[in-house]
Formats: sequence, C-alpha cells, structure tokens
Amino acid sequence: MDRIRITGGHRLNGVIPISGAKNAALPLMIASLLTSDTLTLENMPDLNDVAQLRRILSNHGADHQIDGKRAGDQPNAGQTVHFTAREIVDTTAPYALVSRMRASFWVLAPLLARMGEARVSLPGGCAIGTRPVDLLLMALERLGAQIEIDAGYVVAKAPDGLKGNVVEFPKVTVGGTHTALMGAALARGETIIRNAAREPEIRDLADCLNKMGAVIRGAGTSEIVVEGVTSLHGARHTVLPDRIEAGTFAMAAAMTGGDVLLENVRPELLQAGLDAIARSGADVTPTNTGIRIGRNGSGIMPVDVTTEPFPGFPTDLQAQFMALMTRADGTSHITETIFENRFMHVQELARLGARIKLDGDRAIIEGVPELIGAEVMATDLRASVSLVIAALAAKGETTVHRVYHLDRGFERLEEKLAACGAQVERVSDDG
Ligand code: EPZ
Repeated sequence: MDRIRITGGHRLNGVIPISGAKNAALPLMIASLLTSDTLTLENMPDLNDVAQLRRILSNHGADHQIDGKRAGDQPNAGQTVHFTAREIVDTTAPYALVSRMRASFWVLAPLLARMGEARVSLPGGCAIGTRPVDLLLMALERLGAQIEIDAGYVVAKAPDGLKGNVVEFPKVTVGGTHTALMGAALARGETIIRNAAREPEIRDLADCLNKMGAVIRGAGTSEIVVEGVTSLHGARHTVLPDRIEAGTFAMAAAMTGGDVLLENVRPELLQAGLDAIARSGADVTPTNTGIRIGRNGSGIMPVDVTTEPFPGFPTDLQAQFMALMTRADGTSHITETIFENRFMHVQELARLGARIKLDGDRAIIEGVPELIGAEVMATDLRASVSLVIAALAAKGETTVHRVYHLDRGFERLEEKLAACGAQVERVSDDG
C-alpha cells in the first residue's frame, strides 16, 4: 500500500491543470448502458473509481476502448473513451463489485429502463454516514417499477417498461436525481422531477442524454421535465471540469500562500467555495482559462461555512476547508448538513496539532499558529486530501497513509503539487 510523504512549508507557485470531474464521469459512463450504440466520453479522468466502474460495466456487456495519445494532444488532456453496450448480457450487479463503490449502484436505473429488470447489490454503509438508497428506489417505483429486497440485492422489475410520472424528492439527492433522469429518459410519457438536485454534474448528465436523443428540460434547476423516448443512440460528450478538484487546489494555495493558476476551471460552478476562500483573505481572480489564487503575506481569516446542496458550499470541500481553517487567526465554525458522519478527518488533523471540537453536526476550529508533521491516515477521499493540505503547511514531515483513497478521485495529485514547488513524494510500503 502506498503512502505520500510531504515536507511542509513550501509555497505553491505555478499552474495546475484541472481534470474531468469524477462525479460527472461516473454517471455518464453508466448512461452508456441505455443504448446499444457507442457513447464517446472526452476529458475522462484517469482514476481508480473510473477503472472500477469500467469493470462493472463490462460485467453487464459494455465494452470500452481508450484512445491512444495523438500528435498535438495537450500533455494533461483527459482520455477519450468509447463505451458500447451492444447487448446487455447480465442484469445483475454483484456484491463483490458494487460494495467497492457506491455510485455503481446507479446502474440499476439504466438496466431496468432498457431490459425491464435488474438485480443490484445494496451498496451498504460507508465511512461518511449510512447513505441509504430509499429515495433512489422511490423514484423508480414512481416510474412503475416493482421493487423487492432479496438477500441483500435490490430486485427491480418493469416487464412492460417504465412509465412517466411525478417524482418528488423529500430531500435533495444527487444519486436520486441521476436515477430518475436515466429511468425517465426511456419511460413512456412525461416525468416531472421535483426538488431535483441542481449540481452541475446533473446538468452534464442531462446534456449528454439529450445528445443521445433524450428530451430533458430544466436540468440544473429544481424542476426537471423528461419526455420519454423509445430508444437512445450514440453520442460524443466532454466531461465537465472537476469543481471539487479545483476547490481543493484553491484551498491548498490559500493554505500555503504563493500564486497558483488553476486551468480549465469554470468558476461559476464553484462560487460558494471561492467566496469562502476569498473571505479567508486569499485573492481569487477569474482569468480567461480558469482562476488564479494567491495569498501573499496576509494571514488566514476565520470563516464560518455550512454545507448545502448546490449552489451552496459543497460537502465534498468541507474537509479541505477545515484544513485551511486550522491555521486561521481565530475561531471558525463548520456545519455539515449533508452527511451525518463526515468528520473523520478531525481526529487526524488533531495529530498535526489542529484544535477542533465537535458538537453534533458542527465543528469548532480554533486556529493555531503552527501545524507539525505526523503520521496520519483517513477513511475517505476528501478527508485524505484535507490531510495533504494541512501537511503542505505543517512544519517538518507528514506521511499520509492509505493513499488508495486519494487515487480513487484525484488524478496525479502529487505530480500536480510537486510541479508547483510542493515537496511531496509517493512511497511504496514494499519499496
Ligand atoms: C453524490 O453522492 C456524490 N457522489 C458525493 O461525492 C457527494 O458528497 C454527494 O453527492 C452530495 O453532494 C457522486 O457523485 C459519485 P446524495 P450521493 O444522494 O448521490 C441522503 C465524493 O467524495 N439520501 O446527494 O450518494 C444521503 O444520506 C462523494 O466524491 C437519502 O436519505 O449523495 C445524504 O444525506 C462522496 N436517501 C443526502 O441524501 C437516498 O436514497 C444527499 O446524498 C439517497 C440519499
């Protein structure tokens, strides 16, 4: 198992290219199950979660082909991958595959919509909370599916196909909205999705589905209308840039000081995060191709944030922002409203000398003048990267264990940081 070793105290200066978004790439890949034609996805990030989902899709009969590098390609360009699910050969998604990645549960909707049946293992709990799937199942039931739970599997049937209906979510859910969109795309008649998630990744999926022949209006707002069609065809779509990766590097730059240009960023998709960074005293300047983050000399001001569905402050940046606040000149408060147990980074940040108290869904962070390197590990992706941010500013050496969490969702993390002057290296346990 690899570790990352960081010697803190170096300012970040340089250019960081932002990759395609993991959380857009995954549902887009799953949408390839909806058609027997080829779906070509450009700007695909090279991540472990993406590779794992490719394995899951191939189990259902979806082949993929990754384009080789072409003359004139940008060195940091994402991959172009062609997915073709000519025939669905298996409508079961087994425990061994689904339990390793929650988003793979989302194959339920396209398998059901295209084949009239699907058997998908329940994803189970995970390190950031219980994360139920009741709302995803509710959405499919509203579209006419009969659903049973059998030996840890969701067994869904719609022998006569899905039927359009009103799907109203009592709570905003990204996975629920993806599920409703993919089910409704091939349902008979009209579906209205109310209280839909407004995350940019929803809009990206809807845009891609529309290119495949779906008829979807309103994605990106809280009411989406889908006119079902009988079949979808192939398309070519570019994955949107990763707003969480961009926010993470922006926070790393604000933490260490220096001047970093984040390329291939759409600042409007990250406004709440950028506002919080600006309030902490960093200079945030949109440019033609991205954003520039600098903090020269000034200290870090304490800022209170509360996580909310988009366009609010994203839960996927909460841990990283907490790392930044550990060095603020004063006390800040971070409230987590999306997941009930997403504070696993708190005890690890404490190993570096952070002073954080937990009070229910609220963390109270008393800024300290100095963090000191230590051995740390984390239990999820965003928590792990928050430790990297803290380590970049800590005195001495920090080792972050269980790097596989980072590899699930950050492409070439240490390479991108090292190119900006961070002292960071990957170490193999057997090396
Ligand atoms: C997506 O997860 C993201 N994953 C998460 O990113 C992200 O944190 C989350 O949305 C919120 O933005 C991907 O896109 C692959 P939800 P998802 O359904 O869809 C509750 C990362 O680090 N809920 O929007 O699973 C749920 O428990 C990951 O990249 C139900 O109660 O999240 C949570 O409290 C982690 N019943 C809230 O809704 C349900 O059936 C929002 O969850 C479904 C969800």
